[in-house]
Amino acid sequence: MPGSLSALVWLPLLAAAGTGALDDGQALVPPMGLNTWNAFGANISEAVVKEMADLMESLGLVAAGYRYLVLDDGWSDPERTQDGRLQADRQRFPSGKRPACLPNSIKALSGYLAGKGLLLGVYSDSGGFTCQGFPGSRGHEAEDARSFADWGVSLLKYDNCYTHDDLLERFVAMRDALNATGRPILYQLCEWGIGDPWLWGPRVAHTWRTTFDIHSSWASVMQNLDESIGLARYAGPGHWNDLDLLEVGTFGPQPNGWEGVHGASLGPEPGGAWQWATPPRVRGQYLSEKEERAHFALWAILKSPLFIAADLRRMAASSLAILRSKEVIAINQDPLGVPGDLIWKSGPKEIYAASLSGGGRAVVLHNRHSILSHLQAANITVRWAQLGYAPEERAAVRDLYRQQDLGMHAGSFTAEVRLHDVAVLRITPQDPQPAQEAWRPWQGQPMFERHEEDEGWIPEPLRAAEGRQGDQQ
Ligand code: GAL
Repeated sequence: MPGSLSALVWLPLLAAAGTGALDDGQALVPPMGLNTWNAFGANISEAVVKEMADLMESLGLVAAGYRYLVLDDGWSDPERTQDGRLQADRQRFPSGKRPACLPNSIKALSGYLAGKGLLLGVYSDSGGFTCQGFPGSRGHEAEDARSFADWGVSLLKYDNCYTHDDLLERFVAMRDALNATGRPILYQLCEWGIGDPWLWGPRVAHTWRTTFDIHSSWASVMQNLDESIGLARYAGPGHWNDLDLLEVGTFGPQPNGWEGVHGASLGPEPGGAWQWATPPRVRGQYLSEKEERAHFALWAILKSPLFIAADLRRMAASSLAILRSKEVIAINQDPLGVPGDLIWKSGPKEIYAASLSGGGRAVVLHNRHSILSHLQAANITVRWAQLGYAPEERAAVRDLYRQQDLGMHAGSFTAEVRLHDVAVLRITPQDPQPAQEAWRPWQGQPMFERHEEDEGWIPEPLRAAEGRQGDQQ
């Protein structure tokens, strides 16, 4: 950790320290959108991005709430301009070839997206290079943030490749550079959950990744889920745990032979084109429809950002239906902003719950029993006492994927849940009390108690700044 940060760098942190969050009015609910990485890798172009934007509109995804379209790694040219600015790859983003007096390709693209009701996001890296070897923003934070603002960018995903130490300093430097532009730019940290970002992330960014990269297999989805259990209490309006992209509607080999994140980069050819090695391993098992349903509901209730990672030109109707599930999305976007967490587990049976505005609860009953099991389904019961309700409370139960009312129930509700599937429920007391909003899923869960060392843990530079403030008083 750097010991040399100036007080100036940390003053905004101190301002935010009261709430523990950036508190700038952005991301009051988890952001939703589409990110190019898992479907296209670094092989993205203006043409394909426009196609995705058109499909987001025509398939009803914009109307369903997906607002951002994020260009992940690969959008930029390997070289900065002579005056040190980032620029888009001029072959793949040809609007960049226009005379300098006309908007460059990224600005033109943000304008195109605005016409579709979409906001543009871009990717950069807090090190010298991005993970795919394009220019990183280390040492260029101010001018890169200015470029993003000038181009009408509304989100920055900021990665952690080609770096060694100074993790916090790097991410804070870009936060301050973004703030200095005066343009609201949602800030997504991507340090893969390796530095406990949930402890300091709320002071630095709007979202932080809790895990390494997801890929299209049930094992990967479950791994990211498991690594994010117990972290709900750190998130809330303006600051969210990011479990990584949605593997709903994602496939294996792409039509152009590119196999997503499993390809290994060989580096640029002399002519500048990027070359890819044969994928080092065959992609894992893709998700079944039930698994896609479970994955989407779990990301929704844990209040992860919901970023589609599929190629919308080749998506199954069942995947599209999952991504557009209005009532499941509504639990993710509930204005109370309380992330759900695991509240009960018995072997493969799990219950996740979140408090909703108005005193209701979202509940996901999840059966993760091995698909080799001879049992096709399991009964899972959620008890009102587990949700902070009195056992005699009468509550309406609604199935959110099926959009069906399941009647009034007192004390508990049992659903039969198939293997690798979920029942996604909204529980609404007959006579809901606003005070019932105060319940939290981690409350009374010894496993999720905050530890003293977490409470007291603030990164060294912040501690130093707080010490300095104490001296001034
Ligand atoms: C990784 C990141 C991925 C993707 C990739 C691009 O570090 O976790 O989500 O952005 O870099 O190279």
